Amino acid sequence: MILQCLFSLDFMSCLIGIFLFLLLVDIIRNKNPPNFPPGPRPLPFVGNIFTGLHFRTIDKLAEEYGEIFSLRWGSEKMVFISGYKMVKEALVTQLDSFADRPIIPLFHPFFKGLGVILSNGYLWKMQRKFTNIYLRNFGEAKKNYERSIQQESIFLCEAFKGEKGPFNPQFYVNNAIANIVSAALFGHRFDYHDERFHTVLRLDSEALVLSGSVLAQLYNAFPRLFAYVPGPHKKVFANYGKITDFLRDEIKKHKEDIDPSNPRDFIDAYLIEMEKKSSDPEAGFNIETLVVTTLDILEAGTEASASTIRWGLLFMMKHPEIQKKVQEEIDRVIGQSRQPNMADKPNMPYTDAVIHEIQRAGNTVPLGFPKRASRDATLGGYFIPKGTAVSTNLSSLLNDKTEWETPDTFNPGHFLDDQGQFRKREVFLPFSAGRRVCIGEPLARMELFLIFTSLLQRFTFTPGPGEKLSLEGLLGFIYVPSPYHMCVTQR
Ligand code: HEM
Repeated sequence: MILQCLFSLDFMSCLIGIFLFLLLVDIIRNKNPPNFPPGPRPLPFVGNIFTGLHFRTIDKLAEEYGEIFSLRWGSEKMVFISGYKMVKEALVTQLDSFADRPIIPLFHPFFKGLGVILSNGYLWKMQRKFTNIYLRNFGEAKKNYERSIQQESIFLCEAFKGEKGPFNPQFYVNNAIANIVSAALFGHRFDYHDERFHTVLRLDSEALVLSGSVLAQLYNAFPRLFAYVPGPHKKVFANYGKITDFLRDEIKKHKEDIDPSNPRDFIDAYLIEMEKKSSDPEAGFNIETLVVTTLDILEAGTEASASTIRWGLLFMMKHPEIQKKVQEEIDRVIGQSRQPNMADKPNMPYTDAVIHEIQRAGNTVPLGFPKRASRDATLGGYFIPKGTAVSTNLSSLLNDKTEWETPDTFNPGHFLDDQGQFRKREVFLPFSAGRRVCIGEPLARMELFLIFTSLLQRFTFTPGPGEKLSLEGLLGFIYVPSPYHMCVTQR
């Protein structure tokens, strides 16, 4: 056709012909199967790339198109599931229908479908099982987590105390939280002045925020087209390159002095498991997977918990009266002479309610982690073919107008009954549910309680002079508070 055109006088008609031909191919290729979830009309070739992926946009579209709707970027379709009934049906009732992950081009060069978060099938099952059991046993052994969180709270309070003027708490909080999983992963914590670890945490936070940028999303939709274009996706690659170098060095050091009869930490235990599973290569126990699994735990175990603590400090500054009530409960139940422990929690319903409200209003993982239909499924009367990318809109649960009395207001009363006792709310699923439910939930709950109460036991938090605290966060792979500066006053 192209050759014919070159020799033809009517070049313009040929161009139109080629365009119409490509349009036809595009329409046929992207035709939805019958009963596929509806959505805004996609543009030819590019689909809905001008529809941002902010959770507020997704909420608006859900109002317009219903709790199950679809968008398309290029040829990639994604189905969005909102509302408690549908999300629960997808994650819990249809337990095995949406248990896979799609390939995310932005993360694929480093995660390669290995590890726990972005893997699938047998490899995922084996890696998740091993990691889950290790993290649980490590925590249970002599109340390891409780002690290491208490220990880390002392370091964190000391660091806060050392700050004489307004400061951004991000670096300390992230380092403190990362140290809790580091004890399990690497067998030791990192000093807050450890330059290399500090850089690793900074690069990781940066990569997660950049992954939400428009260009990074365009890269996900058209990886081949944008592979040679400079932009934030290149920075994401560079950052993960440096982070994995750090992890490889840690693994190398472990290999040099491992004692197989006495594993010190996750890396040792994994290296031993590699020997045991050498006859089962499909399970994926090898150095490459170890790097990715360690990265999964370090990243997922740091960013979501640390940003929840940072949301917490932000909400306390915005609501000094609530901060005061938490402090009164701490003084009444724990006092000032000892550290908080987990046995205090049932006696502190107000603080517990505030922490839950921080998670609700902070909305740290608004759209969950992306999923993929692992088989043909029918949900809410719509057909979702095997392989379709799916997003479970957790934000729609945490902000549901029919479930929460004042969804747009920070209100610990959401989690308190008439007697002021803590009340569970079924719709509260910040850790998701089902096969892919967060494996760090028990640890994260402990971190949030012990670190939050330790900080409020020791300090009162106020915004730095002239600081305009914003509740509008930064949306990347997760939703984090915008940087702020705060002052601490010792109590
Ligand atoms: C407040 C803190 C945290 C929140 C809100 C949170 C939330 C989540 C969410 C929403 C998911 C996605 C589940 C899904 O796809 O349906 C997830 C997955 C995951 N989380 Fe967390 N998380 C937190 C802390 C942690 C911690 C401390 C760890 C590690 C120790 C961790 C490790 C993981 C892992 C490995 C996955 C992937 C599970 C899989 O794909 O099988 N998370 N988390």
